[in-house]
Amino acid sequence: MAIGAKITGWGSAVPEKIVKNSDFEGRLETSDQWIVERTGIRERRWGGTTTSLAVEAGAAAIKSAGLSPSEIDLVILSTTTPDQTTPATSSVVSHLIGTSGGAFDLNAACAGYVYAMVVGHAMVATGVNKKVLVIGSDTLSKITDMEDRGTAILFADGAGAVVLESSERDDFLGSELGVDGAAQPILYCDHGSYLRMEGREVFKKAVRVMVESAEIAMKKAGITADDISLCVPHQANLRIIESACKRLGIPIEKAAVCLDKYGNTSSGSVPLALADAADNGRLSNGDLVLFSGFGAGMTWASSVVRWQASK
Ligand code: COA
Repeated sequence: MAIGAKITGWGSAVPEKIVKNSDFEGRLETSDQWIVERTGIRERRWGGTTTSLAVEAGAAAIKSAGLSPSEIDLVILSTTTPDQTTPATSSVVSHLIGTSGGAFDLNAACAGYVYAMVVGHAMVATGVNKKVLVIGSDTLSKITDMEDRGTAILFADGAGAVVLESSERDDFLGSELGVDGAAQPILYCDHGSYLRMEGREVFKKAVRVMVESAEIAMKKAGITADDISLCVPHQANLRIIESACKRLGIPIEKAAVCLDKYGNTSSGSVPLALADAADNGRLSNGDLVLFSGFGAGMTWASSVVRWQASK
């Protein structure tokens, strides 16, 4: 019997503290109007730890799947901001949630969550694990220079998670992962320092890699853009999402967007957008969902997944 994987639950978590665009005015040379027009972001959340947000989102996803924590036999935590260099943040998260089996962190920057889902699928599809908790959690406010108007307005904190369970029918229809290390200088963070970014360069490359990788994933899945019910892109900039969707031939109304509320939360962004769409009834069983992320590296990842987690 072939083994596949399906998504059976989802959850999310954001810190309580809301930082509005107007909170930057006066302190940095910027304005609410500039930030909204150039990025689509209106407010974001700062606070918590990568561990605390991961635990809240992960526990919510397990509950939504109707499971108890001990039934989970692997935790994959995508993060760029682990709370300690060692141990991996996933080990403490696994302890606090009460999962069984193994746990590890995965870092592919802002593409990390789609990477983690694809790896989680592989672990289930090869029979190594049966119930995998895939969490994305980041606290980018810790590594953002609050005096730099080019980055302070973008980055934020948040987490999301899904549960993957083994299934006779495989809902992961086609995936693609990629990296171009030559692009390292346009977005990086040295140890003990802050994120440094060439925004315009990142913007141009992001649109290109998102489109190319989404097209490869759809081709592998044997579908076209017309078959996609919901596109869940990395939440970096609304103009990146609009431009990529246009080139892919996916109407912008089919994109899940929550960056207006949460900004760019790196690994938290794709699962936060998924949870936001699912919580708002935008997903029906049988829908085809296109996940697509990009980030520092430069990394990218796309996956086409059939949704059947709505109860
Ligand atoms: N408020 C006001 N002005 C700002 C500003 C801010 N917060 N940030 C930058 N500017 C200024 C720049 O200094 C520049 O001024 P200049 O013309 O005097 O030099 C001007 O706005 C235009 O800068 P530019 O970088 O061309 O703006 P942009 O339209 O490309 O928007 C970003 C800047 C950062 C919002 C945009 O490039 C972006 O989102 N890039 C992708 C970043 C990203 O996705 N990173 C994460 C990847 S995971």
